[in-house]
Amino acid sequence: MSAAAERARAPMAAPIAEAAALSRTYRVSRGLFAGSALLRAVDNISFDLAEGETLGVVGESGCGKSTLARMVTLIEAPSGGSLRIIGKETAKIAGEAERMELRRTVQMVFQNPYGSLNPRKKVGTILEEPLVINTRLGAAEREAAARDMMAKVGLRPEHYRRYPHMFSGGQRQRIAIARALMLRPRLVVADEPVSALDVSIQAQVLNLLKDLQEEFRLSYLFISHDLGVVRHIADKLLVMYLGRAAEQGPKKAIFERPLHPYTQALLASTPGIEIGRKRQRIILKGELPSPLAPPPGCAFNTRCPHATERCRAERPEHRPVGGRLVSCHYAEKFL
Ligand SMILES: Nc1ncnc2c1ncn2[C@@H]1O[C@H](COP(=O)(O)OP(=O)(O)O)[C@@H](O)[C@H]1O
Ligand code: SF4
Ligand SMILES: [Mg+2]
Repeated sequence: MSAAAERARAPMAAPIAEAAALSRTYRVSRGLFAGSALLRAVDNISFDLAEGETLGVVGESGCGKSTLARMVTLIEAPSGGSLRIIGKETAKIAGEAERMELRRTVQMVFQNPYGSLNPRKKVGTILEEPLVINTRLGAAEREAAARDMMAKVGLRPEHYRRYPHMFSGGQRQRIAIARALMLRPRLVVADEPVSALDVSIQAQVLNLLKDLQEEFRLSYLFISHDLGVVRHIADKLLVMYLGRAAEQGPKKAIFERPLHPYTQALLASTPGIEIGRKRQRIILKGELPSPLAPPPGCAFNTRCPHATERCRAERPEHRPVGGRLVSCHYAEKFL
């Protein structure tokens, strides 16, 4: 039985990823005489992700999605909080062997299918590279594994000897996905994986990701600024605003009845998504505040049509309302 099939039969184990109060700050210079300031790129984010599950992370550009992705893929260390991957606290990795194991467990697919593949290497070489570095497989076994994975992502045998520039954007993303899966990860972090593709190609790549998820029992941390994309693939959602969680919980509950005014605005601005008749369309107004100086109280108060004095003074707790967590003083109003 394959490792993936064995996993599929195993009883539900610990979550594949668990974040608790995860934070990442950057010290940013404010200019020659103004000193520096602390930018909270990811501020107090918690979630867990089970085997075979997809967490969709959404929010406008600059809200901290990629920073979260870099922490979960162990590219960057958190400044605070806890991050467990397959039950292991990443801040307390025992040694190089354990770090390698966790690195294999989590793989990443990037937004730009043009920049993420080495143009001087053939597809076969690109796919076999992780095996050269991480396994003792011989050349013939590596080629067989690469060809096997090519078939699974819908590439043809003759593509093995071609260079990335000979492929379309959608096919390049298939190559990137195949490369990410060569070491049989448990978790794939996909940072805007279809945002650079034509809409007609997006659905094909999303369907491929879904099929591969089922076959390999993969968990996905799927990042997108587009709720329309996330809707097709996510089981649960994390909506971020200026580094913080605005609303998170089951996708179905949030799409049916978003309780945070920011989620309501994002949904209202997504084409093709019907919103209930009783709900008013909120248009996102005003500019995104600087992440170096988020508004006091509720970070969304400068753009929220429901903001009150309380919102400008008191930061809302991230609390359970209507089967999910919401950071809004007045979430009950929208139930
Ligand atoms: N290495 C860094 N140094 C300083 N600021 C950073 C760095 N990486 C990200 N940021 C800042 O952190 C915030 C979140 O960025 P990012 O995670 O890229 O957001 P998103 O992916 O949602 O667009 C932004 O304000 C960005 O400018
Ligand atoms: S706490 Fe106030 S400003 Fe923030 S989302 Fe709720 S109503 Fe709007
Ligand atoms: Mg990003």
